[in-house]
Amino acid sequence: MKRLGILLSGRGSNFEAIADSVAAGRLPAVLSVVISNNPNAAGLEKARARGLEALVIPSRGLEREAYDRLVVAELEKRQVDLVCLAGFMRLLSAYFIQRFPSRILNIHPALLPSFPGLEGQRQALEHGVKITGCTVHFVDEFLDHGPIVAQAAVEVRDNDTEQTLAARLLAQEHRLYTEAIHLVLSGRWRLEGRRVIRT
Ligand code: GRF
Repeated sequence: MKRLGILLSGRGSNFEAIADSVAAGRLPAVLSVVISNNPNAAGLEKARARGLEALVIPSRGLEREAYDRLVVAELEKRQVDLVCLAGFMRLLSAYFIQRFPSRILNIHPALLPSFPGLEGQRQALEHGVKITGCTVHFVDEFLDHGPIVAQAAVEVRDNDTEQTLAARLLAQEHRLYTEAIHLVLSGRWRLEGRRVIRT
C-alpha cells in the first residue's frame, strides 16, 4: 500500500473525496497524515473525525524553506510516498520539491496554464471563457506550473455565478483527483519534457 500525505489550508473537500476513495478501495493507498499551516482549517476536524492523524504546523514567522523542512520531516517520518496538496495555500521551496521529486500533486480549479493563482473560477468568469475546468499537476517551484497529469473540462453557462460554477468544478475536482492519484501511484506513466505520457 502506498502512503499518502495531504496538505491543506481550508475546507478540505478534496481531501474528503480522496479519503472516500481510499475508504471505498478505489485507491490502493492509506492516508498517513493530514497537515495544515492553518490551525483553523475545517479540513483538520474532518480528518480527525475520520480517525486520521491531523497535524498543525503554523507557518507564521518562518522562512519558506525553514517551514518546509518541518513539513518534510513529518512526511518522511511517516514514509509518505505521495504528497497531495488539497487547497494548500503556499508555494513549496526547492528543498521540498527535491525531497519528493515527481511525488507531489496539486489540484487547481482552471484549465492550466489559463488562470493560475487565486480564484481560478472567478478569473474564468471575468475573462468570459466558455469552457473552463480543473487540472491535477505535479508541483514544481512555480505557482500552478508543473507537468499536467489530468484535466477535466466544465462548460461555463450564461447564468453562472462564481458559486454555481465553483460547485460544478468542485464535483469534477473530486472525481479527477482520485483518477490522477490512481494513475501516478500505478507508475504507468513517464515524463517526456512536460508531457505525462501513459505507458
Ligand atoms: C479547490 O478549488 C482546489 O482546486 C483549490 O483550492 C480549493 C480547495 O478546496 N486548489 P477544498 O479545501 O478541497 O474544499
